Amino acid sequence: MKKKFYLTTPLYYVNDMPHLGHAYTTISADALARYHRLKGEEVFFLTGTDEHGMKIFRAAQKMGLSPQELADRMVKRFKELWNILSISYDDFIRTTEVRHTRVVEKVFKILFQKGEIYRGKYRGWYCTPCESFWLSSQLREGKFCPECGREVEELEEETFFFRLSRYETRLLDFLRDNPSFVLPPSRYRETVEFVRGGLKDLSVTRLNLSWGVPCPLDIHHSIYVWIDALLNYISAPGYLFEEERFQTLWPVDVHLIGKDILKFHSIIWPALLMALDLPLPKLIFAHGWWLSEGEKMSKSKGNVIDPKELAQKYGADTLRYFLLREVPFGEDGNLSHSLFEERINSDLANDLGNLLHRVLPLVERYLGGKIPSPSSLQKEDKKLIEKGREIIPKMDRSMDKLSFSEALSFLWELVRETNLYLDRCAPWRLFKNKALKRAKTVTYVTLETIRRISFLLFPFLPTSSLKMGEQIGLEEKAISSATLKEVKEWGKLPPGKEIKKGPPLFPRIED
Ligand code: MSP
Repeated sequence: MKKKFYLTTPLYYVNDMPHLGHAYTTISADALARYHRLKGEEVFFLTGTDEHGMKIFRAAQKMGLSPQELADRMVKRFKELWNILSISYDDFIRTTEVRHTRVVEKVFKILFQKGEIYRGKYRGWYCTPCESFWLSSQLREGKFCPECGREVEELEEETFFFRLSRYETRLLDFLRDNPSFVLPPSRYRETVEFVRGGLKDLSVTRLNLSWGVPCPLDIHHSIYVWIDALLNYISAPGYLFEEERFQTLWPVDVHLIGKDILKFHSIIWPALLMALDLPLPKLIFAHGWWLSEGEKMSKSKGNVIDPKELAQKYGADTLRYFLLREVPFGEDGNLSHSLFEERINSDLANDLGNLLHRVLPLVERYLGGKIPSPSSLQKEDKKLIEKGREIIPKMDRSMDKLSFSEALSFLWELVRETNLYLDRCAPWRLFKNKALKRAKTVTYVTLETIRRISFLLFPFLPTSSLKMGEQIGLEEKAISSATLKEVKEWGKLPPGKEIKKGPPLFPRIED
């Protein structure tokens, strides 16, 4: 049986257009999903939208729409963007779908019956943009949200509480025994410190908020949007309704999130799962934030980066490459025009794009556009072939730690090594000097290495990888369904097959 790999992105709020932050989490998840497919695993890649709560309700009101209309409209935008960015999700869950709400309601009943949820009264503060409850002691300057800095609202209402405080010791024990439950290590330490500071029971319903999953214990309440949303991770794979499927998928392998929503995932979510007697996720990975020209993105500053616009201008793969390569995953990044241009021109236009365009014209000019047969291999050839093999375990180790940037840097070592091999062997000179046997071997070794590169590139730059493959005569399916085993093998390119030289894959970005 194939090994399964279940990974998720957060569910995105539908009050606003998808932005670069959403694109970042989703592109990273997509690269990971595709890499695990390349490893031959059965992947379940889940994403979706978070559609309930005060924030969406107010945004819809402002636009003169019903919340459902707003959600429907935005879901289209998200799906359109995911399509542009080649996101290969397996399931897209919306929190307004019955397959989700029925699980939320049932979970509430179960937790109430188990005594994990009780009725009480909440007095405190609420930040609508973050959909978060705060104590006065946590507020900034007495009235601002400690997370986003915006003004909070005072709340005093009857509510249902989840006994989060019960889980303090169990969580600390679990964290002590599983130091790589939360990564990177700085986020793990943040989680431990927060739990050590003491956990309070959590208000999990809102009174008289019509836009939410109705609380099955009292119709005047609706379920707190964060509890509703977190449960998608078990409702989508079939919890309580498709038990067999659920058993094969749960626990999830990776929850990919941004650092701003760490505590919900590393504290509240595990406590809820403990209360339900379910195994905990294997890994929660919190990535950093992207700044725009060195500053936090905000509508008021007018510096919000639209991923759709960037993808349409430079190509989706170019954006994917920059985001995955530029910053070690987990750290904050800065998207500036000059950094973007530098990275794309040097790595994509020069290194990778050039490689293809140094060898394909030779095939056209001297070999009738057909892949040649190699003759006996020399030391130089064997070295490059070996390099292409060695890279696999290296990339594998990087991808195990979600170091996309490191994995790509290994792949680029191979790209550069192949360019150097061409410099040294100079097949153009060999062709001119009629050293045909050697010229054909060097050309074959280069093309076959390009095949390996295009297979390994597929998780990161799927469209370019397919185009590269097409240019060296490969069918789309040969790449999209390739496994690491085929990358390891040598000599898969069939001599005699026609190449299809196309336009440059990565044009230079000019100022
Ligand atoms: N709806 C909640 C998640 C519920 S999951 C059960 C939510 N949604 S969100 O739309 O506000 O944000 C989703 C993701 O976008 C988060 O992972 C967040 O970190 C990421 N980003 C938002 N802005 C970002 C940047 N500027 N840079 C990088 N990622 C950031 O939170």
